[in-house]
Amino acid sequence: MISRLRLIGAVLFSVLSVASVAAQSQILAQTPPMGWNSWNHFHDKVDDAVIRQMADAMVSSGMRDAGYRYINIDDTWEGQRDAQGFIHSNAKFPDMKALADYVHSKGLKLGIYSSPGAKTCAGYEGSLGHEAQDAKTYAAWGIDYLKYDLCGLRTEMKGAPSPEAARNIMIDAYVKMHDALEATGRPIVYSLCQYGENSVWEWGASVGGNLWRTTGDISDNYTRMADIGFGQAGLAPFAGPGHWNDPDMLEVGNGKMSDDEYRTHMSLWAILAAPLLAGNDLSNMTPDTEAILMNKEVIAVDQDSLGKEGDRVYAEGPIEVWSKPLSGGALAVGVFNRHQSALTAHVDFRKLGFTNKVQARDLWEHKDLGALPLKYDVEIPKHGVLMLRVTR
Ligand code: GLA
Repeated sequence: MISRLRLIGAVLFSVLSVASVAAQSQILAQTPPMGWNSWNHFHDKVDDAVIRQMADAMVSSGMRDAGYRYINIDDTWEGQRDAQGFIHSNAKFPDMKALADYVHSKGLKLGIYSSPGAKTCAGYEGSLGHEAQDAKTYAAWGIDYLKYDLCGLRTEMKGAPSPEAARNIMIDAYVKMHDALEATGRPIVYSLCQYGENSVWEWGASVGGNLWRTTGDISDNYTRMADIGFGQAGLAPFAGPGHWNDPDMLEVGNGKMSDDEYRTHMSLWAILAAPLLAGNDLSNMTPDTEAILMNKEVIAVDQDSLGKEGDRVYAEGPIEVWSKPLSGGALAVGVFNRHQSALTAHVDFRKLGFTNKVQARDLWEHKDLGALPLKYDVEIPKHGVLMLRVTR
């Protein structure tokens, strides 16, 4: 009996250790990271209480179950360094470790923010000269994600003798923090933020970035969101599992766009395989905001296991047709109307590679549309979208 128990124990042990090796070798950000970030809504008004409230709301709203995981503290948490050079959080965050424990207890992960410069964008303490120490501190607190925002490093870059030398200062700084994070042994998603300069998509992955911002800051208005989102055309080849283009965080639910515009935002970000980091007050969402952020069929497009970013297929004036290949040979298709009034879109499925039948499902109506003709005319509201999942 004892030897049988031992045998079962040994088998269990080896199964578990294989599983844990597999978990370790699993790449970080296998699919685009999903979560929430404090900046778009709270700016410098973020504190310990807000983070706990957002973690609670992420669970109670159903967002955690829809796939959102990271609760990311953006700029303005930083306090002073002590005599040994270790960073401390400021009075808004009395105990970062306790906060991380709380967030983890909800089945969520905690993210933080710093800059490779001496100062962050908001003028707080950056990591320059303290990279290894900061990485160790983050790991000791239980941090799972770092957004590393160029800002303050511009001072050093401006002093460089050539643009090439300035670029090298930046790249070295990003490598340095990557190595420091890796040396902690804790899996920490590494998010580069330098606004898409120097074609970051070409080298972001090689410095260890799991995602990199491709643009300047988003704001809660259609023109800015559309400029950024539709401006991502052509970047698809640079994204894939573990390394994603990041057109900035979501503004859904912040109140300055219509629901059609927010549906466009969410659809486009999903087709772009963009990180889905909500940027609204999760504790105060309208049913429409919840329906947009938690549309599981649209989230499934973003998180599809094939890990391919979509791209624009064609445009006819203000009508743009984008598609994203999905696992199993399906295609996500977004038909967008950028005009300031409703328009009839002439969707030509032959341009999407179809020669015969098109079976379509409407991902906002949650409705099978059956077989569509190869040339399909459909009215799209002002700044709105028709989002489909199509198969042959
Ligand atoms: C920059 C970033 C923003 C935000 C702020 C914080 O502008 O692009 O996303 O992090 O800094 O100061």
